[in-house]
Amino acid sequence: MKILMVCLGNICRSPLAEDIMKTKVPDDFVVDSAGTISLHEGEHPDKRAVRTAANHDIDISQQRSRPITRNDFETFDKIYCMDIDVYEDVISKAENEQQRQKISLFLEASGDHRNAEVPDPYWGDMKDFEKVFQLLEKGCEVIADRLKTHNL
Ligand code: 4NP
Repeated sequence: MKILMVCLGNICRSPLAEDIMKTKVPDDFVVDSAGTISLHEGEHPDKRAVRTAANHDIDISQQRSRPITRNDFETFDKIYCMDIDVYEDVISKAENEQQRQKISLFLEASGDHRNAEVPDPYWGDMKDFEKVFQLLEKGCEVIADRLKTHNL
């Protein structure tokens, strides 16, 4: 099973989602992340995201931002988008129905009916990053269980 987490810049939400998910799935799962924009390509994650993860004993400091590519739609089995704008952008990049089937809103896939989106914490503070971490932690738990038991 190959999972791709996608947000806008690939420096805040999806790097957190990537390494949180890695703590919840078997070693033979592949988990990666990407952004819909290339503005931060090559950069390490935002320091506030690094610190938030470190507060939970997760090291995301060595990740590097990269934009999503055409290949990703073939390589990955599941593509989880952090918010609706990202979802629409990713859907618009898919080239056929089989690729579109792989794409979902992260919180919808995790059955979180109170929140549709993982809010962008970039313009916020550490509290916003912690809130994002909690949403991702709960969501990854549910998605990992589903993938491990039903492959969906
Ligand atoms: P992310 O957060 O999509 O969670 O990585 C953002 C990162 C950068 C920007 C916006 C959101 N930006 O405008 O540069």
